Amino acid sequence: MFFAKKKDLIGIDIGSTSVKLVKLKGVSGRYEIDSVGIASLPLEAIVDNTLMDSSAVVDALKSLFEGLGIADTREAASSVSGNSVIIRKISLPTSTTEELEEEIQWEAEQYIPFDINDVNIDFQMLEPDENDPAKMYVLLVASKKDIVNDYQSVFAEAGLKLVLVDVDVFAVQNAFEMNYDFDPEEVCALVNIGANTMNINVVKNGVSLFTRDVQMGGGLYTEEIQKKLAMSGEDAERTKLSATKASPSDLLESIARINDTISLEIRRSLDFYNSNATGGKITKVFLSGGGCKTFNLVEAVGARLSSPVEILNPFSRIKFDEKKFEKAFLDEIAPIMAIAVGLASRRLGDK
Ligand SMILES: Nc1ncnc2c1ncn2[C@@H]1O[C@H](COP(=O)(O)OP(=O)(O)OP(=O)(O)O)[C@@H](O)[C@H]1O
Ligand SMILES: [Mg+2]
Repeated sequence: MFFAKKKDLIGIDIGSTSVKLVKLKGVSGRYEIDSVGIASLPLEAIVDNTLMDSSAVVDALKSLFEGLGIADTREAASSVSGNSVIIRKISLPTSTTEELEEEIQWEAEQYIPFDINDVNIDFQMLEPDENDPAKMYVLLVASKKDIVNDYQSVFAEAGLKLVLVDVDVFAVQNAFEMNYDFDPEEVCALVNIGANTMNINVVKNGVSLFTRDVQMGGGLYTEEIQKKLAMSGEDAERTKLSATKASPSDLLESIARINDTISLEIRRSLDFYNSNATGGKITKVFLSGGGCKTFNLVEAVGARLSSPVEILNPFSRIKFDEKKFEKAFLDEIAPIMAIAVGLASRRLGDK
């Protein structure tokens, strides 16, 4: 969002367990996959959305570029989330984009709990304020400069140029809007469940109505299995991934417990939106991120919420060459690539 430039960008999502890369090309008005890849990160390389071991991330970036043979562009889009980002809907005197660009820094000051000089500010103009005809709503987005700077130096070290920094929730929203038709009145919740962070975004007709990042994700299952089944973290991770309805009951119980914890947390956040909902009640929920692939989670979330739940496929409308990519592989990784796909289609002036 902050350093946009018109050109094909490579979408790079740096998560706490892996770096995801998607490169798209526009072919006759439609996107086609050019490159896609995932490189794992060592444990603790990223903690609380902060780069702790930047050389591990640099190595992952380099190995992705080399492995995929990407040589024609080095310009990338990435995104941040969690405590390094603040998203607020505020009411300001009605003004033009140009006026707001000049004033936003000053206006934003009272809404940001950090020194205004420590953050990058971006905004999106929304609808008029129904309570005051002289005012309009503005979506204010502030991200901490130190995190963005860390990202920029990691990309630079890997020989890349980070030209656009987005926010996870908006990248998922972009992937959703690229791939799904929606009724302008329909309110959807997009929930991206990573290993450590869950990004929640309630959207209606291309506008975000509510966002929240919760520090919870697929890692919880691994911890629970490690504890309850007394195994190493690596074994617990493997065991989790292999779960089916035929798995031993102690494994299924551990997974069911965390399915419940995560579903409850989603419900709590969505109830919070619904209780103040001015845009209408949520009618559908889309899950993405590696965590959403957990055995029975979609069903558990569906049981907790009274709306239908499905897995978001960010490749659903994107073409691909079947000689280059295997459909089964793309289907397998699809929900994990939501943020990277959303980033890969970003262009100049995107808000
Ligand atoms: N098939 C699967 N079944 C269950 N869990 C899965 C599956 N595939 C991946 N996961 C889990 O998804 C998580 C990784 O997802 P993802 O890549 O979206 O997270 P991340 O971006 O690395 O983390 P974060 O965004 O939280 O920092 C891990 O906890 C992993 O165990
Ligand atoms: Mg992630």
